[in-house]
Amino acid sequence: MACIVFGVTGGIAAYKAVEAVRLLVQRGFEVRVVMTEHATRLVGPDTFRAVTGNPVSTRLFETTGPAIEHISLARAADLVVVAPATANLLAKMAHGLADDLLSTTLLATRAPVLVAPAMNPDMFNHPATQENLSILRRRGVHVVGPAKGAMACGEEGEGRMVEPQEIVDKILEVLGLGQKLIGHRVLVTAGGTREPLDPVRFLGNRSSGKMGYALAETARWMGAKVILVSGPTALEPPPGVEVVRVETAEDMRREVLSRYGDCSVLVMAAAVADFTPAVRSEDKIRRAGKEGLTLELVPTPDILGELCEARRPGQILVGFAAETGDLLSRAREKIRKKGVDILVANDVTRPGSGFDSDYNQAVILFRDGRETELDLMPKRDLAVRIWEAVVEMMRSEPNGEGNWQRRNDQAQTTE
Ligand code: PMT
Repeated sequence: MACIVFGVTGGIAAYKAVEAVRLLVQRGFEVRVVMTEHATRLVGPDTFRAVTGNPVSTRLFETTGPAIEHISLARAADLVVVAPATANLLAKMAHGLADDLLSTTLLATRAPVLVAPAMNPDMFNHPATQENLSILRRRGVHVVGPAKGAMACGEEGEGRMVEPQEIVDKILEVLGLGQKLIGHRVLVTAGGTREPLDPVRFLGNRSSGKMGYALAETARWMGAKVILVSGPTALEPPPGVEVVRVETAEDMRREVLSRYGDCSVLVMAAAVADFTPAVRSEDKIRRAGKEGLTLELVPTPDILGELCEARRPGQILVGFAAETGDLLSRAREKIRKKGVDILVANDVTRPGSGFDSDYNQAVILFRDGRETELDLMPKRDLAVRIWEAVVEMMRSEPNGEGNWQRRNDQAQTTE
């Protein structure tokens, strides 16, 4: 993945930069930290060294690597981030001052630059700072935050650095993850379905919806119009995503089938019930007088199977396989039988992975027999890998781009 040069200046929020860097490393980015001298008084370079596994650069003439370090850092960067960015650093950037390693790197880089300002609210609202920020914005520098709230100095107002996750989200957006699915409409299913037994009980499963929501969120980052058909979950819907709430497998089938035709890609991450009670009792099933209870279950519709039959040329179908053993052989059989283009197989018995975890470990199988085994990673990262696989497949299809383009044009004109 991309190389991020992460600048840290001397604001109290420097401690939050450690978490932002950790999140980036976890996402698979190569992170090179550059600290100003003031920043080293707030957080030790060793902390960043431990988190990134890379040397930390602090001074112009004390090189940790190549002789002209600001130039090599500036060239290696796919993105330069400064978080926190003090009023002083913003002023230097706006006026082209280059008197330390970070400011010289910023002046030398051709990569996109993102700053996360952090300072006292009066400093932030000072006309000088505001003018410097407008100069930077006009030059194409990306700015995230600041947020409003209580400051370390005891005052309240606009000047707090945004939270680490927000910095990471902005980085992904700036890095063009927002471009790869631009113009495409994608449908994602998430969560488990519930099959009612009576007005108070249902048959359900352990799906939290996190995998599907991560897919919806990252598709949005990558520029797609996203429809998320979701079983009941406690999760907040990702911003900018159209959410359709369903309860049963039959509801999910209906909502997916009615929207599928307009979509370029469908990803079925939902844990759809395979069986539903043959009879749904209108009244609560009473315990009194019963020795036991036998339920008769009937199969639910196989949504993915139906979609495979109904697909139009050019549509890409991604299925999931939740297995409890013999992962690969079952997944190979499933990709053959279901007729999907890509199958994401996960072992749901593995601790810290699968149901309800923020992490997942999966093997991505392709219809041409290729298989990519991935490490345990955050669900968002796995989601990005899945979308990258989809994009690669779209590009390798004969006339694939043309098909997509036509469908995209249609999607945009009906928007
Ligand atoms: O929601 P989380 O807590 O984040 O957990 C994520 C997950 C474990 C649910 C997810 O990673 C996952 O594996 N989802 C698929 C679960 C599943 O139903 O797998 P399956 O092997 O039983 O089904 C195979 C495929 O057929 C799936 O894409 C499923 O959506 C689809 N299916 C299943 C039954 C049915 N009646 N219709 C279907 O379309």
